[in-house]
Order: sequence, then C-alpha cells, then structure tokens
Amino acid sequence: MADEYGNVSNAISGGVFFHEVIQGRDITVVLPPKVTPALSGLPAPSPTFTGRDAHIEELLHALSPCEEQQEVRQPSRIAVAGLAGVGKTELVVQVAARALHEPDWFSGGVLFIDLLGYDPERRLSPERALDGFLHALGISGEHIPDGLQNLQRLYRSVLAALAHEGRRILVVVDNASSADQVAPLLPTDGMTAVLITSRHTLDIDARLHDLNVLDTDASIVLLHQALLQTRGPTDTRVQDAPEAAAAIANLCAGLPLALRIATALLAIRRQRVSVRPSPRAQEPVPVPLRQ
Ligand SMILES: Nc1ncnc2c1ncn2[C@@H]1O[C@H](COP(=O)(O)OP(=O)(O)OP(=O)(O)O)[C@@H](O)[C@H]1O
Ligand SMILES: [Mg+2]
Repeated sequence: MADEYGNVSNAISGGVFFHEVIQGRDITVVLPPKVTPALSGLPAPSPTFTGRDAHIEELLHALSPCEEQQEVRQPSRIAVAGLAGVGKTELVVQVAARALHEPDWFSGGVLFIDLLGYDPERRLSPERALDGFLHALGISGEHIPDGLQNLQRLYRSVLAALAHEGRRILVVVDNASSADQVAPLLPTDGMTAVLITSRHTLDIDARLHDLNVLDTDASIVLLHQALLQTRGPTDTRVQDAPEAAAAIANLCAGLPLALRIATALLAIRRQRVSVRPSPRAQEPVPVPLRQ
C-alpha cells in the first residue's frame, strides 16, 4: 500500500513466507504515486553523435508501443553487440533519449544501469543491480527482500504493474558480460522494453543488433563535429584539410572511441593536421603542422 508520503508496501495473499516476503500466490504491488528522480537516470546523449541513422530507426521501430499492437509483435528485448569502443552505449543512450521524448511510449521513465561487466574488480552482481533498480522504482529498503529470486520476483511484479497502469518503463542495461549477469534483470511482462549492450553475443532470447565501425564519411563528420563542439565554429581544420582528415579517420578504423581520442589530441594541439609516411611503418601517421 502507499501511504500519504508515497511509501510503498506490498499486499500478499496466500503463498509461502520466509522472513518478510519470499513467495506469494497473489502479490499486489501498490506503486509510488510519482516517478522518482532515479527513474530519469539516463546518461546524457553526446551532442556530437554522428551517423547510425539506420540503427536509430530500426531500434526505435522495435521500441514503438504502436508496433506492439500490430500483428507482428516487436521484440521487447534488444541486445546491441559489438567490439569495445564501437559506440554501443552511445547508440542505446541516443535511442532511449529519443524514445523517452515520444509521447506515451515510456511514460514510466527509464531505468539505466551499467553492470560494469568487463571490469573484473567492479563488476555488479544481479542482486546489487536489482536492489538498485528497486530503489530507483521507489521501493523503500525495508520492503526489498534478500535473495536473487525474491528480488527478481518483486522487480518483475513492479514493472508489470507499472506497465498495466500505463506507466511503461524502458530498461537499459549497459555492459553485460554474461547471460547470468543480465538474465535476472530482464522483464517478463511482454510490455516493458529492455535495451542491453554487450561485447559478447549473449544467449538471452533477445533480438540481436550488431553494431559495426563507422564508414569513412561518417568518421570524418564525427571528427568535424567533435572539433566544433570542443573548439567552437572557428575550428575548420577538417574542412580545410579533407585528405588529412580522411587519413586520420582511416587510421582510427572507423572506431568512435579512437576518433574521439584523435579529436581530443587535435583539440589540445590546435594546429593544422597533415599526414606523412611513418618511418617505422608503411601506414601514414597524422603530424601536426604549425598554423
Ligand atoms: N556515432 C557516434 N558519434 C559520435 N560519437 C560517438 C558515436 N558512437 C560513439 N561515440 C563516442 O565514442 C566513445 C565510445 O563509444 P561507447 O562508449 O558508446 O562505446 P562502447 O561500444 O559502449 O564501448 P565499451 O564496449 O567499452 O563499453 C564515446 O565517447 C562515445 O560518446
Ligand atoms: Mg559501453
């Protein structure tokens, strides 16, 4: 039940009880009246986001609630896979931000978590992730049970209840390194949508969305946009030296992370960039020239 302050409790009839709430036959989840601030915890999308139009379109199409009512049901679980630095997080953040701006798509808001799956020292367990999600959903600590199964059950019940109330939530799970790490966070109500990123192809019954490196044109646009963002409209180095920019784009192999690092180096130097052959390799390397 929710009291006048919006605190939430769960009414349970029948079932099995260990400690507080372990298993109930019928669980009634009374939701907090307002969306809590944690429900808007999506990282800021990059203002220099470039390309990926087809990916954005496809992912938005899959998230569209209208499409779910059509004959061909859209997947509510989508896993974006690709190598490190290819732009998986950026893509899902961009898609989520756009989806949240669509009226009535996700009026419940967004749940975002970085599972840190590729950081062996900080990797989050599903229990910790679920605990964080339940807090973000407005469930107070005293009502959050122990144990993976109980956490999972309450989390899924809350999401389902929100969806049935018309407050559908978008769950974004970043950096999942294994199916075991992410599977307990997957909603099962068929309405709550989830976007997952991973460097691996996970066996989690999700629609797989592969992400590859940018082509040369998009890479050059990224360089240009990122320089303009950092240095302002007077930095026209990419336009002034298109061949050098193309060489840098190719050296970065279309990897957004590498392109952002190259941009940061260019921004620091504030000098013109050209290319000359490397004495140690056959590949050309970028060389700063004095303005
Ligand atoms: N299309 C893009 N346009 C502009 N910048 C981008 C684009 N894609 C990614 N970036 C930027 O490139 C960097 C790396 O992207 P991101 O963090 O999304 O990679 P990732 O695939 O999630 O990597 P990891 O596997 O390490 O988590 C970030 O700074 C991001 O903002
Ligand atoms: Mg990432």
